[in-house]
Amino acid sequence: MADLTTQYMGLELKNPLIKGSSALTENLDGVLAMEKAGVGAVVLRSLFEEEIVEEMQASLDSMNTSSDLFPEQPGYYEHPAQYEPHSSEKYLDLIAQSKKRTSIPIIASINCITADEWTFYPRLVEQAGADALELNVFLMPSDTSRKASNNEQIYFDIAHTITQQVSIPVALKVGYFFSNVPSMLKELSGTDIDALVLFNRFYSPDFDIDKLSVTSSSVLSAPSDLATSLRWISIMSERVTCDLCASTGVHDGPALVKQLLAGADAVQAVSTFYRHGPRRAQEMLDFLSQWMNKKGYRRLSDFRGMLSQSRSQNPADYERTQFQKYFRGYRPEHSF
Ligand SMILES: Cc1cc2nc3c(=O)[nH]c(=O)nc-3n(C[C@H](O)[C@H](O)[C@H](O)COP(=O)(O)O)c2cc1C
Repeated sequence: MADLTTQYMGLELKNPLIKGSSALTENLDGVLAMEKAGVGAVVLRSLFEEEIVEEMQASLDSMNTSSDLFPEQPGYYEHPAQYEPHSSEKYLDLIAQSKKRTSIPIIASINCITADEWTFYPRLVEQAGADALELNVFLMPSDTSRKASNNEQIYFDIAHTITQQVSIPVALKVGYFFSNVPSMLKELSGTDIDALVLFNRFYSPDFDIDKLSVTSSSVLSAPSDLATSLRWISIMSERVTCDLCASTGVHDGPALVKQLLAGADAVQAVSTFYRHGPRRAQEMLDFLSQWMNKKGYRRLSDFRGMLSQSRSQNPADYERTQFQKYFRGYRPEHSF
């Protein structure tokens, strides 16, 4: 019988499959459904930095309310319209309820872009009982007047500030828009964070060519999106000094196995649960167990990282981008 237990950020997981952050775990029912489906841990939907700051501001304003205040002034309305009122309080309640009603680790998530006013909040997350905190940090480096180093410093500021605030493990969920991906990931792993989640998947624009307007591209990932995280987990897994969690494009059991072979300590999935429902988790875990039995592996450590770049006879396989032989030998699917 395959033993799927593992450690991630110092947390004991009954298996390495984590339900990644999304609206599927924005309430207790979603969390309970994912626990019942068999995942090793869940990440709650993210609370946004702005939600925390706006509520803090609203509460300060309410203390200073004067009859001179008129509707156009900030603070006239008790809560800004963009977010649900009291969402940061409700989030703490979701953490506490999830902890009370489940026995798997509950990872809270905050979407942030600064290390400023909101940074008091992670302590409340810890007090509410969260087992860990995942920080979803992303700045689109689209400003031509900013240097890469200015943008990248923000990740370090956030990592330093938050790890000093809490004693629960902290993960940084990042994208790959860095000027030097491996050096940035290695340096981030050397801060006090406990894990890096590679990678977040972002909203991307698309065009409607009839309406001549900008629309959104697919919200859900496709199985082919696995390639980018698989490459970087393989390259980084033996080079970083924190845990690595794979994310994006993990839709089935074989993809879960691949990320573990690349060296992931844990693996997150989201889109596949939107497509196939929570029961997809057990199918993926059954596949992992059966594959391990077939290969004669008893524990995850028997094969984890076996196909990482550091252990490869041909490290260049992981870095090839313009692969002459591959492109030249590729046959068209239609006759010419
Ligand atoms: C509908 C939806 C909502 C999401 N909400 C969040 C969120 O609140 N916070 C976050 O960090 N990521 C969020 N994500 C991103 C996922 O956590 C994940 O990084 C991304 O979907 C890639 O994984 P996948 O290929 O398994 O879907 C969301 C994704 C989807 C599809």
